[in-house]
Amino acid sequence: MSLAEWPHRVSPGAADAPVLLMLHGTGGDETQMGGLAELLDPRAATLSPRGRVSEYGANRWFARLAEGVFDVDDVEARADELAGFLGEALTENALDGRPVIAVGFSNGANMALAVGMRHPELVSGVIAFSGMYPFGDREYDGSLTGLDVAVLGGHDDPMAPRTSVLKLVEQLQRRGATVRHAERPGGHGLTEADAAAARDWLAAKLPA
Ligand code: MLT
Repeated sequence: MSLAEWPHRVSPGAADAPVLLMLHGTGGDETQMGGLAELLDPRAATLSPRGRVSEYGANRWFARLAEGVFDVDDVEARADELAGFLGEALTENALDGRPVIAVGFSNGANMALAVGMRHPELVSGVIAFSGMYPFGDREYDGSLTGLDVAVLGGHDDPMAPRTSVLKLVEQLQRRGATVRHAERPGGHGLTEADAAAARDWLAAKLPA
């Protein structure tokens, strides 16, 4: 899959700033995440691809069998495909060597987590808004030491059940990732407070 065949947007940002890989939710596209990226770090480069799975016309990052029941083979394959895109897009846009933070909302959060957990050599941080454990009942052992993850969402989210979120945190920590897990009251969504928490987390992670 060449870059030209994969709809995406790029903005180069400042040379010493990170790269934000911005992943939309179900039904979104590559035009939707610019405002959030600007809020998280106005100096960052951004790569915003479009999810390549169509669910009755709605763009997604991987197939699901039912709401919250993922086709885990597809999660794995699509995460690897996205990692391929990321590697090529970094080189093509002269962004190699800059830290990459995968940022996603909902289905995009689940893919940001999947790509970070399968490709920590490419991704140094993940910001997951209303995400959950993306790999069903599969567990893995590879080290995630060096991966920083912010897990932000509502305590009562029917689409990202708390049991799955807690499993996500437990699996990340067991494999050596550093996790900030912040719950707010409420359900699925991305609030101003979530975005502000992510911005502060990112600022604290990056060198001044
Ligand atoms: C998913 O399928 O990734 C989650 O259920 C969230 C969503 O509906 O997109």
